[in-house]
Amino acid sequence: MIESFERAAEIIMASELTVALTGAGISVESGIPDFRSAAGLWSRFDPGEYATIEAFRANPQKVWEMLREMDEVVSRARPNQAHRGMSELEDMGYLQTIITQNVDNLHQTAGSKDVIEYHGNASTLSCLWCGRKYLTADKRKEHLPRCECEKILKPDIVFFGEMIPEEAMNRSFELASSTSALLVIGTSAVVSPVNAIPSLAKRNGANIIEFNKEETHLTDSITDVFLKGNAGDTVPELVKIVKQKKGMDA
Ligand code: APR
Repeated sequence: MIESFERAAEIIMASELTVALTGAGISVESGIPDFRSAAGLWSRFDPGEYATIEAFRANPQKVWEMLREMDEVVSRARPNQAHRGMSELEDMGYLQTIITQNVDNLHQTAGSKDVIEYHGNASTLSCLWCGRKYLTADKRKEHLPRCECEKILKPDIVFFGEMIPEEAMNRSFELASSTSALLVIGTSAVVSPVNAIPSLAKRNGANIIEFNKEETHLTDSITDVFLKGNAGDTVPELVKIVKQKKGMDA
């Protein structure tokens, strides 16, 4: 395993441009369940009934049962060692941009500056009818947050069946086409179109470094270095080795 961390550190330190793609797994140690692991959110809520834009329009009250549960854990969550380690890599100049599928804002709270939110962000709400926006925190007391126009509000996260924000989509694919190293952290990489990013980066010559507690369909196909374990352990371990190689005190 050590040689894998060494190898990963060498790749990152030699890389002109390094980008990360993160998923729900990086926030599990902050108390936010992921989606597809055994105790994941989709084991309790059928995404076809709770996570599509059609489901929200048809029955927003029902979808807010799931959203309320998500908001409870996200509002209490704090960045973990993995989020903080990525912010350190950015500060040292070894990580330029994070493309995240997460909506929990934990990368930004941990200090990361260049974060592309591929699936939006849960910290604001919008009215689908009149377009007014609100801070989620300001509406937390309302069991069913409503707009001044009385309609039920929707978090600014991308539901299945909604478009990915154009700027996020374009920048992510540009970066995937030019990055020389891609860190893939805590994602099953099954949801489209974001799941095309690792193979696009690979096709363009990038080294793929995967951090996951278990193997994924990427591991034996395009991953160059697989750092198995909880991201809260593997990311700080990698940062430690980068600092040692850089001659900084760990
Ligand atoms: N450390 C590292 N990896 C972890 C950890 C951990 N502590 N905990 C879980 N994982 C891994 C799991 O093994 C899995 O491979 O993180 C991955 C989480 O996968 P998913 O639950 O599918 O989450 P994600 O890939 O982010 O889902 C993508 O699907 O439902 C939609 O919009 C939602 O953004 C989400 C998208």
